[in-house]
Amino acid sequence: MKKLIDKLHKTRGLEPAEFKELINNRCPELSEYLFAKARAVQTENYGQDVYIRGLIEFTNYCKNDCYYCGIRKSNVKAERYRLTKEQILQCCAMGYELGFRTFVLQGGEDGHYTDERMTDIIRAIKKNHPDCALTISIGEKSYDTYKAFFEAGADRYLLRHETANEEHYGRLHPQQMLLKNRKQCLYDLKKIGYQVGCGFMVGSPFQNTDCLVEDLMFLKELNPHMVGIGPFIPHHDTPFAGEKAGDLELVLFLIGIIRLLLPTVLLPATTALGTIYPEGRELGILAGGNVVMPNLSPKDVRKKYLLYDNKICTGDEAAECRHCLQGRIEKIGYKIAVTRGDHILLKGKT
Ligand code: SAM
Ligand code: FES
Repeated sequence: MKKLIDKLHKTRGLEPAEFKELINNRCPELSEYLFAKARAVQTENYGQDVYIRGLIEFTNYCKNDCYYCGIRKSNVKAERYRLTKEQILQCCAMGYELGFRTFVLQGGEDGHYTDERMTDIIRAIKKNHPDCALTISIGEKSYDTYKAFFEAGADRYLLRHETANEEHYGRLHPQQMLLKNRKQCLYDLKKIGYQVGCGFMVGSPFQNTDCLVEDLMFLKELNPHMVGIGPFIPHHDTPFAGEKAGDLELVLFLIGIIRLLLPTVLLPATTALGTIYPEGRELGILAGGNVVMPNLSPKDVRKKYLLYDNKICTGDEAAECRHCLQGRIEKIGYKIAVTRGDHILLKGKT
């Protein structure tokens, strides 16, 4: 199996059958071998820097009904909220003081935020913080809408593809949601000029190794600037309430594989990883990750943006999260960089 890791390292790819063999035969010794190579590749490209993104969860209204998600429209128990433009700008101002140079505006698919409202918010953030990058993550939109956000100043867009297998996609989403559309959005975003992030949940119901292999092949094809992966975690008021959460060790193994597959990619150690295991985010960095996304949302709304159960940091102030993460990152020999943290091939091009 080490030969497959060597091949992946050298050629930045494997055949589907080889990926499957590698994933199915993983063991602690193999993982250590993979992580050491992944860390070396990470250091070659980004040194010991870990980039921080200030996450602002600005609405939990959503018109979609993904079976796994706690803010799906059918969850009548979710207490809905929206942040005003002023509240969002306050979050950014506080984040800037704390050393954030990237803000991520994330939310459900909420019709209240029309193109006009969104572009107005985007322009205001970029006017106040011209040295910061702005990432948007509000789901599937038309080409023209993505273009309007980009022209207003958005730099990056996060849209996890969730799973690259069509049948699996159909088992995670109601039938009006289509993988084809989601992939088209990702290609549109790239064409417009965004730094694009896709990604998937590990251990979602009905997922098997073949699905994961398809995810990896899709990553190679799309060649995104960022990849967000994290464990699926059940939420008690969704159809998947009784399902089991994704596996820490499999998420880490996939982070290592992705670092070798796309050596310069920006790869977060996610909050979900820190939720299934207390040191999950540190382990994610040590497996080849190089981004963390602490929460900048106002404290009173955090518990309402509950995508899954037991989400960490919902009771903390932004400054507490920022300092907690700094301590965690430094403890493992890395440092938080106060920069936009662009993809290495795009640095300098703003
Ligand atoms: N609405 C936007 C979208 O669809 O891209 C952004 C918000 S959505 C809630 C952000 C991500 O949360 C999804 O892409 C999904 O992968 C993740 N997520 C939702 N429910 C989850 C769960 N139960 N466990 C782990 N991750 C989950
Ligand atoms: Fe909102 Fe899935 S429930 S995008």
